[in-house]
Amino acid sequence: MNNKEIAKKRVFIRTFGCQMNVRDSEVISGLLDKAGYKLTDDETKADIEIMNTCSVRQLAEDKVWSAVGRSKAKIIGISGCMANNYREGIFEKAPKVDFVVGTADIGKLPGILKEIEKHKGGVLEKKIYETDADLREDEIYHTGFHLDKEHAFVVISEGCENYCSYCVVPYVRGKLRSRDYGDILDEIREDIDSGIKNITLLGQNVNAYQFKDVNFVELVELVNSVKGLKEFSFVTSHPKDTSLELFKAMRDCDKLKKYLHLPVQGGSDRILKLMNRGYTRQFYTNLVADYRKTVKNGELTTDIIVGFPTETEEDFEETRDLVKDLEFNAAYIFKYSVRPHTEALKLADDVPVKEKERRHKIILDLQKSISKKKNEK
Ligand code: SAH
Ligand code: SF4
Ligand code: F3S
Repeated sequence: MNNKEIAKKRVFIRTFGCQMNVRDSEVISGLLDKAGYKLTDDETKADIEIMNTCSVRQLAEDKVWSAVGRSKAKIIGISGCMANNYREGIFEKAPKVDFVVGTADIGKLPGILKEIEKHKGGVLEKKIYETDADLREDEIYHTGFHLDKEHAFVVISEGCENYCSYCVVPYVRGKLRSRDYGDILDEIREDIDSGIKNITLLGQNVNAYQFKDVNFVELVELVNSVKGLKEFSFVTSHPKDTSLELFKAMRDCDKLKKYLHLPVQGGSDRILKLMNRGYTRQFYTNLVADYRKTVKNGELTTDIIVGFPTETEEDFEETRDLVKDLEFNAAYIFKYSVRPHTEALKLADDVPVKEKERRHKIILDLQKSISKKKNEK
């Protein structure tokens, strides 16, 4: 197949899940653009549809299966976390799918597409899956493709090895790998040269960043000194790795947004222990006090899971009280969802759906009134 023929092929990328996936979809777009494909945002005109998927909760996966069912594209591929969760099992669950490409394998996409197009419609019907890579090449981050003209996501670390007992991410994204800070800074400078003004540094646990002698606080200081950068922020922070040093850097770095997303997940020490979060309610509360003392007028948001296995009414009330006491600017509240591979899989999912819904609504309503009050101030 020559480049002229490829140029006729239109690719639609459908993104599910977190900001990491939004960035990965940009990376995929950049790679395919370079390889001569035409990107489209009109799914009805796509020859090829790539679903960049999320496995974090059952609901996230259900959305993907129904999108596959609806897709009219001639060639359908699955990338992202479900690719690693199911691997070639995807072909059994969804026979319409032609290829599966894992989270660390996206650099192979142009090659995979060429191969698939050779076979599709030919004598040989071939399915391809590539989910074995451990590492991404740093080059894939440098295609310069961004959905927003002024804002760019910059991945600083991939994977996670915290193994929170409910979470599938370490199994689908692999072990923690911190990118070379020299390369991160080069990427930011390239972004600025192309007109980007704001940056979000991305990682599942940015605070665990360590490349040679540079830790996260030092990286933040390096980024702050990049010429031409107007503003930057970072997500997500794990409380156990968040320190007063970081809050001081937030206070002192003039370009750093005073915004901290610090998922607490729950307010009961018993449940936090079962979740393998590595901190207590008191530790978290102290951290928030330090943050508020050090970073004046800082915003604070969190994530909460209700209905974790064995969560009693008392455990739940501890979460409710924590939300009431700490007055977050916003909270993202999730109903516990059983995930494959995880430790919590061994515990019975014993909080009934109705009860999860009740607890979810209580925290949601409570947080709504807190957010409203805070925004009026
Ligand atoms: N690395 C980030 C984000 C992880 S996923 C962090 O640690 O904060 C985003 C959120 O999804 C988590 O914070 C958690 O609240 C929620 N989540 C993860 N797994 C879940 C599960 N099995 N059921 C319900 N919510 C879950
Ligand atoms: Fe999942 Fe915990 Fe890692 Fe976040 S820190 S991605 S919740 S294992
Ligand atoms: Fe993100 Fe979902 Fe994967 S939250 S890391 S896309 S499981």
